[in-house]
Amino acid sequence: MFDFTNKVVFVAGGTSGINLAIAEAFAAAGASVAVLSRSQQKVEAAVKLLNQHSSNIAGFTADVRDFAGTQEALRQAHDKLGPFDVLISGAAGNFPAPALGMSANAFKSVVDIDLLGTFNVLRAGFEFLHKPGACIINISAPQAYCPMELQMHVCAAKAGVDMITRVAALEWAPFGIRVNSVVPGPIDDTEGMKRLAPTAEIRSTIASSVPLGRLGTKQDVANACLWLCTPAASYITGVVLAVDGGWSLGGAASSASALKNAFFKQ
Ligand code: HXC
Ligand code: NAP
Repeated sequence: MFDFTNKVVFVAGGTSGINLAIAEAFAAAGASVAVLSRSQQKVEAAVKLLNQHSSNIAGFTADVRDFAGTQEALRQAHDKLGPFDVLISGAAGNFPAPALGMSANAFKSVVDIDLLGTFNVLRAGFEFLHKPGACIINISAPQAYCPMELQMHVCAAKAGVDMITRVAALEWAPFGIRVNSVVPGPIDDTEGMKRLAPTAEIRSTIASSVPLGRLGTKQDVANACLWLCTPAASYITGVVLAVDGGWSLGGAASSASALKNAFFKQ
């Protein structure tokens, strides 16, 4: 469907789940791909998987909360693969907890990974982008605009991520760089859903609250990311694109109650 031959893609947090599926979709479309995350084991497994599609694959171990380490990984990826046509910031952390069950450090951990991490990836990555023409995607979440109980940290962090998207779109448009957020809905078979929808009953409640009637797939999100990085989307910047079957139109808030009820029943 898409051709990214001779394009270079860097995916921060690209070693599992949705982000790995995005990395794999770009590699399958012919791109050179670099991924970064904290776990050496996950980085090695992701590189092995991506190598099935392309020999131009690189993996780096770093924590996006650490600016210097992230910058060094971006530099090494640039030196190995060339300037990035696509930069994706997708590293994130999440656990369900009421605000009163969260320490200041618990709140800070998620904000630091999702929000500061996105700043770090974009701030350090700017130097290594293909200009003009590069496309940045921040992976957000419905929590950015749907307040959800047990998710104060994620709601605050991802709302900030979407504001980074909009401000960077403004500041970097003169360089020919587009910046957008992609917002996955409830995506089946992911760490995020394991944490927020730990039982089949909650998953089914969530699926039935999605207007299109099903949980999303990782491929649904990957397809949207690839399309956003094609010339067909060349006039699109600063948008927050939900890939959620319409879930954030109302179902997200109602199905969050299912999680809350299950959490407090434990
Ligand atoms: C309350 C908790 C907690 C919990 C951790 N903490 N889990 N507090 N309830 N369930 C607290 C700890 O006690 C500690 O506070 C602080 O958070 C930091 O914990 P650490 O384990 O030291 O942090 P760290 O090793 O940096 O790990 C970060 C993490 C972890 C977020 C806590 O879960 C992680 O690495 N997650 C990455 C993978 C992930 O979450 N993927 C899902 C993304 S899905 P104290 O005060 O004790 O020091 C997503 C959106 C999904 O983002 C949307 C679906 C619709
Ligand atoms: P996941 O598999 O846990 O993916 C998170 C990735 O980020 C992993 O590769 C993880 O690897 C990496 N990561 C976490 N903390 C990091 C850090 N401090 N530094 C560097 N890398 C770090 O989760 P997922 O459910 O697929 O979620 C992926 C993205 O989609 C996230 O941005 C999430 O907010 C968003 N999202 C997911 C859903 C869903 O339904 N799952 C819905 C809406 C939005 P390491 O552990 O090796 O660091």
